[in-house]
Amino acid sequence: MPLAEVQSARTVSPATRVAGELSVPGDKSIAHRVLMLAALAQGESWVHGLPEGEDVLATVACLRGLGADLQRSGRTARIRGAGLSSFATPHGSLDCANSGTTMRLLLGILAGSSISATLNGDASLRRRPMDRVIEPLRRMGARIESQDDRAPIAVRGTSLQGRRYAVPIPSAQVKSALLLAGLSASGPTTVVEPTPTRDHTERLLQAMGTDVKATADGVVIRPSHQPLRPIELAVPGDFSSAAFWMAAAALRPGWSVIIGDVGLNPTRTAFLELLRSMGAGVKVEGPSDDIEPRGMLTVTGHPLRAIVVGAADVAAAIDEIPALLVLATQAEGVTTINGAGELRVKESDRLATMAEGLRRMGAIVEERPDGVSIHGPAALRGATVDPHGDHRVAMALAVAGLIASGPTTIEGADCVAVSYPNFFAQLEDLTHGS
Ligand code: S3P
Repeated sequence: MPLAEVQSARTVSPATRVAGELSVPGDKSIAHRVLMLAALAQGESWVHGLPEGEDVLATVACLRGLGADLQRSGRTARIRGAGLSSFATPHGSLDCANSGTTMRLLLGILAGSSISATLNGDASLRRRPMDRVIEPLRRMGARIESQDDRAPIAVRGTSLQGRRYAVPIPSAQVKSALLLAGLSASGPTTVVEPTPTRDHTERLLQAMGTDVKATADGVVIRPSHQPLRPIELAVPGDFSSAAFWMAAAALRPGWSVIIGDVGLNPTRTAFLELLRSMGAGVKVEGPSDDIEPRGMLTVTGHPLRAIVVGAADVAAAIDEIPALLVLATQAEGVTTINGAGELRVKESDRLATMAEGLRRMGAIVEERPDGVSIHGPAALRGATVDPHGDHRVAMALAVAGLIASGPTTIEGADCVAVSYPNFFAQLEDLTHGS
C-alpha cells in the first residue's frame, strides 16, 4: 500500500447506535453553478453556505484563473461579475481537480467565449468520458480539441449556433453544459433528456433573468444576450451528502437521524422514495419555496426489504446509489439495481469499487455490466477496504462499517474531502457522541 494511503487510512468501529441531529455541507452541484453564473452576471452577487470540499474549491480556482473577481470568506463568497466578455485567457491550464461538474460546465461556458483555455484534472478526471459534452458542443460550432475525448481539453471560444440535441444518457452535467453554451449562442438551444435530471442550472438561470423553460419538447433556452442579473443565494445542505446519514440511520431499527436545512429539490430526492419502499421511516418537513427548496429530514430505522431499482430511479438518485447498496446488504431478499452503467464512469467505477468493498466485508454481490444484485441480509465483518480515491465510495463503506462485526479500515480515506471534509468527525459524533 502506498505510504499516503496508510497515512490517510481511517478506521470505523461498529456502532451500538446512530442518533442525533446534524447539518451537512452546502450543496456541491448548486455551489458550482451559482459561482459560475455569478461570474457571468453583471454586478455583485453573494453566495452563502458554500461547501468547503475540494470540488468547489476547484471551481473557485478556475473562475479566478479566468479573471473573475471572487472573494471568499469562510462559507460566503462575493463575486463581482462583469459578463462573459470579461473572462481572460488564463495563464496555464485550468485545474478542475476531481470535479467532472467543473470541467463539463466550464467547457459549455468557454465554448462561446472569446478566449482560449485548456481544462485539466486529476488522474480520475482524466479517465472520464468527455465526448458526451464535446460532441454536442461541436455541433453548436465549438472548437474543442483533446486526445481520445478525455482531459486535457483545449477550447478556443467562438460564436455558437443554438441547436436541438437529444442527450443519449441522462446527465445534468451534459444538459447544463449545453444550456450554458446556449446562453451565448445565436438562436434557441433545446436539450431533450431521456429522463429528467437535476434542474439547478435552469432554476438559477431563471432567477437571474434568462428565458429557460422545461417544455414538452425538452429544456429550451432563448438567449437574450443581456448579462445575467446578479444573485444572492443561500446554498442548502447537500442532499447527496445527507444520504450517507440517512442510510446509516436506516440500517438498524431504532436508529435515527435528523438533518436540518437540506436541499429538497424534487429532481434530487428520489432516494427518499427508495428508502421508504425499503421500509425505512422518512419524515420531511418542508420543502420551502426558495429558488432551491430546502427543509428538514428525519430518517428512522425499521426492518428493511429488498427492492428493484430501474434506470429512471438510478438517474434521479445517481449519487445515492453507493449508500443504497450498503442498505441492500441488510434488506431481506435480493436488491437489484438495473440501468446503472453510468456509475462505472464516476470518480471511480462505482459498481466495481462498491462490489469489491462490500464483498470484502462479507456481502453477497453479483455484478453485471449495467447493475448489481445484493443478497440480504448479510452479516458484515470488519475488513480493510479501498475506495479507489472515490469520496462517495469511502463514505458508503464507512457507513457499512457501523454494522460490521469488527473494525473497518478505509484506505485513502482523505478522499472524502472532495465533498465532505468533516465527514469522519460527524460520523464519530453521530455514533459515539454523548
Ligand atoms: C452532477 C450531475 C451528476 C452527478 C454529479 C453532479 C451535476 O453527474 O453524478 O455528482 O452537478 O450536474 P452526471 O451528469 O454525469 O450524471
